[in-house]
Amino acid sequence: MFCIYPTPSAIAQDLSHALLALIQRKPQAILGLATGSTMEPVYAAWLTAIKAQGVDITGITTFNLDEYIGLTAQHPQSYHYYMRQHLFSALEQMGLPPQQCHLPDGSIPQLELAQECAHYSAHIQKLGGLDFQLLGIGSNGHIGFNEPGTPWDSRTHVVALTERTRQDNGRFFDQPEEIPSHAITMGMADILEAKTIALVITGAHKAEVVAQLYASPPDIAMPASVLKTHSDIRVYVDEAAASALPEAVRRRCRLPNLHQAA
Ligand code: F6R
Repeated sequence: MFCIYPTPSAIAQDLSHALLALIQRKPQAILGLATGSTMEPVYAAWLTAIKAQGVDITGITTFNLDEYIGLTAQHPQSYHYYMRQHLFSALEQMGLPPQQCHLPDGSIPQLELAQECAHYSAHIQKLGGLDFQLLGIGSNGHIGFNEPGTPWDSRTHVVALTERTRQDNGRFFDQPEEIPSHAITMGMADILEAKTIALVITGAHKAEVVAQLYASPPDIAMPASVLKTHSDIRVYVDEAAASALPEAVRRRCRLPNLHQAA
């Protein structure tokens, strides 16, 4: 399940090939996408690979994991904005219709949020579920914005962000009071139903959470650990993020030894 790569860029290359192989096998693939710093090299490598190989991406449909409540799509810190900047504008230029790219709408009136959440999970299910889900991890183990304690069977829902998550993500906002307190996130069940899951963890600042994830049995106190129950999950870790794993585990999980990865 854990695979250690030398650098974030080696992870990005490998993942972009996996995504392209999926699209070539299934041109109408349904992809679950994430935002955050971890995904930036992944999307850059993926776009380069799509262009280099001339792969037709016009049949794919994408669903993002989450969006802040209270930010419009035009807000530079919204995930709508992030996705346009890092992926969707380029994919549109390659012919992907924007109506095939979905994110929860966090800018709608409060009274409509429950309906928006129910519709989001139902929409994914109606299209046959996610073929591939890309995930990052928060320093508290969250996936999407499923904070510690989120039930395994949760669907898309409104979440109150923990203080830790607000602090982690505060680096993107000018003033602390601008950091949203709530978000919409796909639920744990939506994520766990994806056919294949790729969890990407890079950087020394994630070393502690990688060690916790490795040691934890599936437990909602550490949301990402629940992924251990999935039959097709790979955790892509770079050397810096792997630095707090026991040496024997690091040796076993490095790329040339992948056939015997833990
Ligand atoms: C974002 C998301 C979050 C991030 C996580 C890591 O869509 O789902 O779970 O993946 O917070 O963020 P970065 O990559 O910025 O460290």
